[in-house]
Amino acid sequence: MNIGFIGFGNMAQAMTDGLLLTGAAKPQQIFVCAKHWDKLAANAKKRGVVPCRTAAETAEHAGLVVVAVKPYLVEEVLAPIGEALRGRIVICVAAGIGCSRLEELLPEGIHHLTVMPNTPVSVGEGVILCERQHTLTEEEFAVFRELFSKLGLVETLDASQFGIAGDLTGCGPAFTAMYLEALADGAVLYGLPRETAYRLAGQMIVGTGRLKLASGDHPGAMKDAVCSPGGLTIAGVASLERDGFRAAVIDALAAIQERKAR
Ligand SMILES: NC(=O)c1ccc[n+]([C@@H]2O[C@H](COP(=O)([O-])OP(=O)(O)OC[C@H]3O[C@@H](n4cnc5c(N)ncnc54)[C@H](OP(=O)(O)O)[C@@H]3O)[C@@H](O)[C@H]2O)c1
Repeated sequence: MNIGFIGFGNMAQAMTDGLLLTGAAKPQQIFVCAKHWDKLAANAKKRGVVPCRTAAETAEHAGLVVVAVKPYLVEEVLAPIGEALRGRIVICVAAGIGCSRLEELLPEGIHHLTVMPNTPVSVGEGVILCERQHTLTEEEFAVFRELFSKLGLVETLDASQFGIAGDLTGCGPAFTAMYLEALADGAVLYGLPRETAYRLAGQMIVGTGRLKLASGDHPGAMKDAVCSPGGLTIAGVASLERDGFRAAVIDALAAIQERKAR
């Protein structure tokens, strides 16, 4: 199935990179459009995907169309192409544009689903949150799931949980990158070359996440498993507890909720 991206910025490029890297799509199956042609053409050329002059042209070529413009532009972008989306699977990644809003913005009978991907989709290790309420048929949802599973974990959630889950998966990469950098700083302080420290910390984080998903173990049990009595790891754990490590992380998510409520 051909895939179209309306808007080819950071998120659409991350998804495209993931689709190409994992072999889920070939470059000639991906059609993209954006506002500024020269920039679009350069970004498309880099990946071998097909640039289109308009959103309507993109929709014409694609069986699955991803709407990836900024949320405030979704209405303007969809208005002229509503009918061109008939018979397509429409996937909207714009934050805050859920199923009920798409029902208002699209002509009746267009099949759509709201999702929230995060940037690690570019390496096939993302999280793709899907709103439980959507208008895809079962077959269309299965097509979507099969394709997007190549980009990472696909998780269906009620609209009420979508916001906080998106904060965890969308903002989490920034927090994790800070943790990764801090680990490397600590190691550099004691003589490890920086690039080596980043590589080791990055893989350690990947491995710990994979172990959690594969084993289903409680995170506390995973911590206990590497803390021998009187050992080195527990000394580090105690230090992190004294410095409020876990509270700082919980507070970061709380700060996001406070910011959203303003
Ligand atoms: N970035 C993330 O981590 C992330 C995560 C989850 C969801 N999202 C959602 O993804 C959407 C895109 O975010 P982004 O970070 O990728 O933004 P972005 O980098 O600013 O990309 C927006 C894209 O929309 C294009 N565009 C603007 N006006 C257009 C028009 N009239 N017709 C067609 N394309 C148009 C822009 O083209 P030009 O570049 O030529 O101006 C650009 O390619 C947002 O709604 C956001 O909520 C983003």
